[in-house]
Amino acid sequence: MAPRIVIAGSANMDVVGLAARLPLPGETVLGDDFMMTPGGKGANQAIAAARAGGRTIFLGAIGSDAFGVTINARLTAAGVDASGVRTSYGQSGVAVIMVDRSGENSILVAPGANTSFTGLTEPERRTIAEADVLVCQLEIPVETVTEAMRVARAAGTRTILNAAPARSLPPELLDNVDLLVVNETEAATISGRSEIDMSALLALVPRVVLTLSGAGSRYADREGVDTRVPAYVVEVVDTTAAGDAFTGAIAVAWGEGRSLLEAVGWANAAGAACVRHVGASNALPTRDEIDALYLSVSPPRTE
Ligand code: RIB
Repeated sequence: MAPRIVIAGSANMDVVGLAARLPLPGETVLGDDFMMTPGGKGANQAIAAARAGGRTIFLGAIGSDAFGVTINARLTAAGVDASGVRTSYGQSGVAVIMVDRSGENSILVAPGANTSFTGLTEPERRTIAEADVLVCQLEIPVETVTEAMRVARAAGTRTILNAAPARSLPPELLDNVDLLVVNETEAATISGRSEIDMSALLALVPRVVLTLSGAGSRYADREGVDTRVPAYVVEVVDTTAAGDAFTGAIAVAWGEGRSLLEAVGWANAAGAACVRHVGASNALPTRDEIDALYLSVSPPRTE
């Protein structure tokens, strides 16, 4: 039976401009192209988990505008149960994204309806309690993330926090995190150290995955494991949502009972499969695409 994954987080409409290079402050750059696609770290991770094979439920909030309708349609089309998504009067979240020809991006999020996702309802709490894995990020109010993690822990649901975007976190939230997924910036913010300090992170949570973009990932836990997991060599078109592909995939693999080391390798493949395409939710790979890259042998990965 596929694991039941609940993602509580943000949903945005991504307004994406593609250009040879990103503009400097105060500068105008003529771009190559433009697209709009549903995104938001929460919705992306829900779609990633569903495509990776999880029975996935998304909890979040959209606005009463046309963007909200499109975001909902994208979630549903990807096989995500979005029936509990709240609609609040006003604008949906919007992310203004610029992508250069190396695939690098910069993102500004106007959170809109995501800020209204506060105070979990009884049905939302039940949904979290019945899940195998709960996944949250930090584009919704931190009080909601804290509450969701507390409900999950009390019910024995495994918890994953993808601490993006970077911010410092209340101890009560970290106390209920089973697995922390962070990039180097987020790791530094949470640990309060300028350099990467895994032992400082492991003093806060029992398991950590540090994502290293093109260099793969590092997994460490309180049992003494501290291992680099290699990256996959792919042509990078757009790095947007690579972390979301990774997080959705690791939730599914862990929920399936695979070891976390194996789950990290499989999630690395999911992230690599994502960066081959422009956009966020539309670029997230299916289980077959992840498996194809994960099982590829020539050339498989790089340290
Ligand atoms: O992680 C990528 C996402 O970050 C984008 O889809 C954008 O909406 C922002 O939330």
